[in-house]
Amino acid sequence: MKIHIVNGPNLNLVGRREPEIYGNQSLEDYFETLEAHYLEDELHYFQSNHEGALLDYLHEHGFSEGGIILNAGALTHTSLALGDAIKGIEAPVVEVHISNVYEREKIRHHSFLEQGCVHTIVGQGLEGYAQAIEFLRTYQG
Ligand code: DQA
Repeated sequence: MKIHIVNGPNLNLVGRREPEIYGNQSLEDYFETLEAHYLEDELHYFQSNHEGALLDYLHEHGFSEGGIILNAGALTHTSLALGDAIKGIEAPVVEVHISNVYEREKIRHHSFLEQGCVHTIVGQGLEGYAQAIEFLRTYQG
């Protein structure tokens, strides 16, 4: 299956950023493990610190076959535009958060994305991305 793993602002710093929350492993590193494990799937990665670039990526790939795994970082809690984009595209989107956003500050409890997403995974560490792949592989729209 073709799967796009899309990460938003500051997720390029995972591994160095607040390790007590996000751990010590970088996403680049973890995605190599994913790639080795999911050999039959076609995994694509995209990270941007820019909301518009994330929107463009969703528009470009959201009408082709496959699924999207999206960790929009802080934009989750602020971006109605990303929420609208998810509703506007055809591909199923799984929302992932490394940390358990519901056990953190109140401002992180609200997601503009979740309504349009087919599933949400929080607080599973980087393993949440693997769980999202497993979900998409069996998801029947
Ligand atoms: C995050 C949670 C967000 O609240 C935060 O702004 C992030 C990362 C997570 O993966 O746990 O940047 O999406």
